[in-house]
Amino acid sequence: MRVGRSFRVFARQDDSCCGARSSKVESSGNAAQSELTVTAGQQRYRVAVGSRLLATTGAELRGKLSGTHGAVISDANVPERYAATVRSSLERAQCETILLPIAAGEESKSLANVGEICERMAVAGLDRSSFVVALGGGVIGDLAGFVAAIYHRGIPWVNVPTTLLAMVDSSIGGKTGVNTRAGKNLIGAVHQPALVIADVDTLETLPERDFNQGFAEIIKHGIIADAKMLDKVAQVSSLRATDDATRKLSLESLIRRNIEIKASIVARDEQETRGERAVLNFGHTVGHAIERAGGYGRFLHGEAVSLGIVAACEISVRKAGLPDADRHKVVALLDRFGLPTRLPADFPRERIFEALPFDKKFEQGQVRFVVSPKIGAAHVAQDVTIEDIRAAVATL
Ligand code: NAD
Ligand code: GLY
Repeated sequence: MRVGRSFRVFARQDDSCCGARSSKVESSGNAAQSELTVTAGQQRYRVAVGSRLLATTGAELRGKLSGTHGAVISDANVPERYAATVRSSLERAQCETILLPIAAGEESKSLANVGEICERMAVAGLDRSSFVVALGGGVIGDLAGFVAAIYHRGIPWVNVPTTLLAMVDSSIGGKTGVNTRAGKNLIGAVHQPALVIADVDTLETLPERDFNQGFAEIIKHGIIADAKMLDKVAQVSSLRATDDATRKLSLESLIRRNIEIKASIVARDEQETRGERAVLNFGHTVGHAIERAGGYGRFLHGEAVSLGIVAACEISVRKAGLPDADRHKVVALLDRFGLPTRLPADFPRERIFEALPFDKKFEQGQVRFVVSPKIGAAHVAQDVTIEDIRAAVATL
């Protein structure tokens, strides 16, 4: 069954967890928002999740940063009115900005675009006291965050995610970067944002396919860290809301829970040196290779991750003791969100194996593959071989 927009609901969950502090506040002007704090190394930043938040960007940014000049980076598919709202709120807060729109799509996450954006920021007179606002999905967050990481050796940035995937995953944790011809995210930096503003109203314009791909990362979070949440996502169709406001609150609750999960993992291992943050890569070794093998056009990121999750579950059954029933449960869930769980017959499968060695999880020919022994837990395995990956891909 395909889950469409009317099923964007989720049971309210009050059990906040693990590392990320959360509280519910009401701000003025009907802009109800829930707050979370991410701690990464020495840095702490707030993640605002709620309705009508775009118009608060200026005031929020001025509460954190002293700079009054910046660049708003967005893409051509993000409705122009979002950039207009953000920029006029910045103007009201005495901040002058330039708008740098780029082409939409994964191919825009390139070093060429980084160079072009930096040139334009320099020509506009932006300096080390300036800031960047990333307004868009994960592509914009990764690209604009990387620009902020290197411009004048690092300037502050604010992430305003406008896709479900970016709200639940990519806006948290400070990983930024671009792709090279050889592979995904091979050039990058960890550069935490000063603030994240997730306005759930922006999801109303997100195409269904883009909305659904966010569930790949949500399901990943459930597999690696929260079996209870995964069960709730599985019930999503029977939790249909009776009105729009309820639906929004339910969606907000789901987003918050996912931010908590990711934030708690990032808090323990910001730089991914202790093997803890690496679990967030569950499904991504094969997923990234499929994304690249498909020329970045065949599958969206979340769709490729969905296929990667199926492969990782298969390997987990063989190597880590994941019950086969759990693998079936995950596949059924991905199916329900319209996410691919099998490769099309004409897909160039061999290209997946050409792409694999370029994955960052390959080190000196060895793969650090993330497996799950049971839903709600994951670890990095050292004994997964290319043959295991081949066998798993053969089942797709
Ligand atoms: P995306 O940024 O390409 O956005 C998907 C599409 O939706 C684009 O066409 C975009 O223009 C459009 N869009 C965005 N917001 C919209 C809105 N509100 N209304 C209408 N259209 C809108 O893709 P994504 O799924 O958000 O992110 C995928 C990227 O995130 C990949 O590059 C992936 O590698 C990266 N990622 C990064 C991290 C991290 O930790 N940094 C984690 C997960 C994924
Ligand atoms: N997306 C993986 C991470 O943020 O670590």
